[in-house]
Amino acid sequence: MVEETDPEREARLDALADEHLQPVRREYVVEVTSSCSSCEPPLKRSKGRNRNRPREESPFERGTPAAAEDERNKIPLETLQELQRKRYAFETARGAQPVEETGVDPLFLRPRKLVDFGDKVYVAPLTTVGNLPFRRVLVDLGADITCGEMAVAQNLIEGQPSEWALLRRHASEKVFGVQIAAAHADQMGQCCELIRRYCDVDFVDVNCGCPIDPICRRGCGASLMRKRAKLRGVVETALRTVACAVTVKMRTGWTDDTPSAHTLVGLAQSWQHRGRGVEAVFVHGRSRTQRYSRLADWSAINRVATCQDEAAALIPVIGNGDILSHQDWEAKRAEAPRVESCAMLARGALIKPWLPTEIKERRTWDISASERLDILKSYVKYGLDHWGADACGVQRTRRFLLEWLSFLHRYTPAGLLERLPQRIHDRPPSFVGRSDLETLFASPLAVDWIKITEMLLGPVPDGFRFEPKHKANGYGTTGPPVAGADNNNDWG
Ligand SMILES: Cc1cc2nc3c(=O)[nH]c(=O)nc-3n(C[C@H](O)[C@H](O)[C@H](O)COP(=O)(O)O)c2cc1C
Repeated sequence: MVEETDPEREARLDALADEHLQPVRREYVVEVTSSCSSCEPPLKRSKGRNRNRPREESPFERGTPAAAEDERNKIPLETLQELQRKRYAFETARGAQPVEETGVDPLFLRPRKLVDFGDKVYVAPLTTVGNLPFRRVLVDLGADITCGEMAVAQNLIEGQPSEWALLRRHASEKVFGVQIAAAHADQMGQCCELIRRYCDVDFVDVNCGCPIDPICRRGCGASLMRKRAKLRGVVETALRTVACAVTVKMRTGWTDDTPSAHTLVGLAQSWQHRGRGVEAVFVHGRSRTQRYSRLADWSAINRVATCQDEAAALIPVIGNGDILSHQDWEAKRAEAPRVESCAMLARGALIKPWLPTEIKERRTWDISASERLDILKSYVKYGLDHWGADACGVQRTRRFLLEWLSFLHRYTPAGLLERLPQRIHDRPPSFVGRSDLETLFASPLAVDWIKITEMLLGPVPDGFRFEPKHKANGYGTTGPPVAGADNNNDWG
């Protein structure tokens, strides 16, 4: 593996760039300027509203990107402004008559459309990296069901444009969910009221799995697993308010010693509104405190599926964790026979975006470096469609591509492996690929990821720096990796 830049290597990479000359850049980029302070992606969530801060740029006011008409779930600007000024008249506000009793809202009267997860490939919610262009790529490569990145209910209710952007859906996403982190029923109710009115979604997923402190401290995410009454309120309010399916994503428990998903799923069977209940429970087979320190426990996931009241309607339990190949998926199914036949992918889709094809065709795809470059070209095209083809859009596309590249380099080409399949926790030794491009794709160095973006999007501005948000490079710089660990990954 190439370790540091030198003139010879630079020349070789430039030749590589020429060889795969940027059709995407020629076609889409209108103008690339060196700096644009407003176009940094919303990588950090704001901690509440600061009235002195200039108003955030609305994603709905920006120049019209090429395929904007293919994107749905755009909330009108006036509504956003009403939300920001706290003037939006929520029907679910205290004292207001419930919509279903007044019977005036035709949206609510639509029959609830159910989602069939059986035998499907589902790409899990992925903060930052699971953006709309990425999901379009995954749909092209065989994903059946997709979900938006986690959106915080309170931020949606406050009309934060960057939060609303997380609910966007592309026309190609045939079955699409949004994931909401809410702390209590009122928040979920108001949020679902807005979703029902302004969004076209097939399911609303209640986040009970986010381990991150700022989210748990707000009473959302995994902390909901410890507050059963609140969780019930949140889920039942969602069931009461939206016309689409409602699902719940959880972990096995707060700590390894206190598993709780298996008891919660039994309770969830009784959480109903007018005979309609939770459509599916997704279980990530790790506890909140475990993060990615060990492999996902699929026997624990199976236990969740079996701990239901057989006399009541069973909730399909969908397992999640460590799927990087069709062999992994088949092994997990054998280990957890009671889980639903839905392959739920997260890091596997980031490292091998062609994984849905492999799972559906039950084969290992020894994908070539140029085919992988084509995938990146599609991403860049979709990124410029979504974020715009001006300097701001180019910068956002580059940032998010870099975030993705921080996962993509972990793929070891199938043709180079002595033993198939690659496992998600394998730490392959440095290797030289079958072409310069393949070697470049395997580089763990941010400087090489930047080089790849330059092949597709043109040169970076002077002084450009990049540090991955999710620090997904679990190859450890501080000591030997723990077996099965994804040491630096902050999500789960
Ligand atoms: C970068 C990243 C972002 C994630 N974002 C979310 C999220 O927004 N909502 C969520 O419920 N889970 C999120 N997760 C967790 C995944 O959906 C999934 O449950 C977890 O990674 C386990 O699956 P895996 O072992 O296949 O990666 C994220 C995981 C990663 C790696």
